[in-house]
Amino acid sequence: MQIIRTIEELRVFKKNHCSKSIGFVPTMGALHLGHLSLIKNSVSNNDITIVSLFVNPTQFGVNEDFDIYPRMEDKDIELCKSAGADAVFIPSIDMLYPNGLDNEVILFPPKKMANVFEGAFRSNHFSGVLRVVLKLFNLINPSNAYFGKKDAQQLLIIKKMVNDLFLDINIVSCDTIRDKNNLALSSRNIYLDSRSYEMALKIPQAIRSAISLVMVNNLESKKIENAALDCLKGLDVDYCNIVDLNLETIDMVKKDSSLLIIAARVGKVRLLDNCWF
Ligand code: PAF
Repeated sequence: MQIIRTIEELRVFKKNHCSKSIGFVPTMGALHLGHLSLIKNSVSNNDITIVSLFVNPTQFGVNEDFDIYPRMEDKDIELCKSAGADAVFIPSIDMLYPNGLDNEVILFPPKKMANVFEGAFRSNHFSGVLRVVLKLFNLINPSNAYFGKKDAQQLLIIKKMVNDLFLDINIVSCDTIRDKNNLALSSRNIYLDSRSYEMALKIPQAIRSAISLVMVNNLESKKIENAALDCLKGLDVDYCNIVDLNLETIDMVKKDSSLLIIAARVGKVRLLDNCWF
């Protein structure tokens, strides 16, 4: 597996593999089984798989955890290798933002999708995500790019960008990977101590209660949200809503085009989860 740290090296790597289909898995490192399943999916369906490891400063707010975000490059490189990746791209901030963070063209997703839910709590977060993802797409030119359904709003906004900007990239949405107690895997789970971990398990319980209602054709959003909220008692819930694929709240679940999205805080740790109906 090749470790690529510069844009020049990346260009040489791509030249040596031209005419092969490239699968791309963008990450911020601190890899867990969720990332590994994205990488394995890419490895099975493309000639070449490139994983990026880059903690992107433009998607963190001033009071967020950019400085302390877990960074474990050596371990991540080993994990990428074990999952079968062909290359890891590890750019520096200066390399991806050579003109500085405040002196370049910025992308803004539509407010209706970006200023709600996560965007209401993290202003400009999705603008920062699109900035870096578009740069990485342009540098790597993948045929397929792999994103987890766990970050549902991010996934839907990236799909919107790809569609609106006519990018010739297939976005592959991959199922959330959960631990043995059904907690969705996230790099931030390492912040949970054993008490908050137990509390966090209320989130997958809420998801299960929503799924059981939908399975018996109980499709009223309010009922489903209330059942989920009942399970979440004791957590600080930022939102718990049924939405469509444009992230608009809806009165009734429409099968195959709606989801329940949840964000809740357990102490200082903010956790996201969702289920797609
Ligand atoms: O989901 C993430 O890890 C990040 O938001 C992404 C897509 C790698 C962009 O920095």
